[in-house]
Amino acid sequence: MTEIARGLEGIYVTETKLCRIDGQKGELVYSGYDIYELAEHSNFEEVCFLLWNGRLPTNEEYSHLVEQLRRERPISPLNNRLLHEMVGFVRPMRALEIAVTAIGALDRNSSDMSPDALQDQARRLTARMSTVIAAYHRIREGNEIVAPRDDLGHAANFLWMLRGSEPSELEARVMDVALILHAEHEMNASTFGAIVTASTQSDMYSAIATAIGTLKGPLHGGANDAVYKTLEAIGTEDKIPAYVDDLLARGERMMGIGHRIYKTTDPRAIILERLGEELAKVSPDAHYYHLSQMLRDYLAQKLEGKPLYPNVDFFSASVYKMLGIPNDLYTPIFAMSRIAGWTAHLMEQYANNRLVRPNALYEGAENRPYVPMSKRD
Ligand code: ACO
Repeated sequence: MTEIARGLEGIYVTETKLCRIDGQKGELVYSGYDIYELAEHSNFEEVCFLLWNGRLPTNEEYSHLVEQLRRERPISPLNNRLLHEMVGFVRPMRALEIAVTAIGALDRNSSDMSPDALQDQARRLTARMSTVIAAYHRIREGNEIVAPRDDLGHAANFLWMLRGSEPSELEARVMDVALILHAEHEMNASTFGAIVTASTQSDMYSAIATAIGTLKGPLHGGANDAVYKTLEAIGTEDKIPAYVDDLLARGERMMGIGHRIYKTTDPRAIILERLGEELAKVSPDAHYYHLSQMLRDYLAQKLEGKPLYPNVDFFSASVYKMLGIPNDLYTPIFAMSRIAGWTAHLMEQYANNRLVRPNALYEGAENRPYVPMSKRD
């Protein structure tokens, strides 16, 4: 009997030194560093270095990386024109995918897969994706694009370019930690999508465009926007029971709940909830955060006994709302964090490539005679 692994669960497609998840214990570890420690002490740029090099940087290496990322922030005139053409009818994840393809088109070394070239490409994509997302939003709002600021770190600079105002220290830190939490997650669907593309020896830019398209779906990165829409639809605390009961009775899924790997609360959701607590003390949108907590508590009663707990998307929706970010940018922000992990996996893949080409069990007809069109009923 041929065994079919439809969702590929339990199948190991490669080895990695990047990330280990224990879904029963709720552990997430990047290259040996626990996610709670990284969230407490590190920042996104340092986590990028860790993922791309397998170790934490020295002071000098860190400063060098920060400088290299800053140099790569401005977007090209081509991307600027494309964004102006696209806003209004191209949604943000598609716009990001197109922008990444354009960044690749302008890189004369796009097909260079040497370790140095891959590091260059990873830095370029990481730096530019945040500028693209912010510029897209500024243009569609009819505002001037805000130029990146050299004195701000990656997270703070993103909020600056997006909103046109400097974030508070707390806001910058929350954004930074959110980027760390989303930076890497082993062989998730979008990383696997990128690996499949890269395994044909296609370049990093095409692999990242694949990953962005894969992340977009509501069962993966699109769930954070879906959680926001759920909170909007529920509106107030008293509506939670009726909303949840109806949804579950219809056999539908609550977005931001459940995970292929975690059978306990996703540690990233725990960290985001803690960060949200701080923001909620000062944010005019704290309502969404408190509603998320009440929804989580009600779901815990309704889903008791089932391995369904909040995942990373559950609290990212209300945290991003409190940062003043529009909900259709939540998934693009996921992409601009996960670029760190995607590119790191691609470096591993190119260093030890094997074409990914599984099989499908044929169950169709056999031995059919070809009937000319004129003789078909
Ligand atoms: N709400 C209600 N029931 C659920 C949910 C949910 N969110 N998720 C799973 N279930 C139920 C299923 O209906 C199924 O029930 P059944 O056995 O009675 O048929 C059971 O739990 C198992 O579901 P599967 O689909 O087999 O579990 P899978 O591992 O494929 O699901 C997934 C993982 C896709 C993430 C799922 O939990 C889901 O759809 N969640 C909502 C979307 C979401 O939040 N996605 C983001 C994931 S995190 C990330 O990608 C960053």
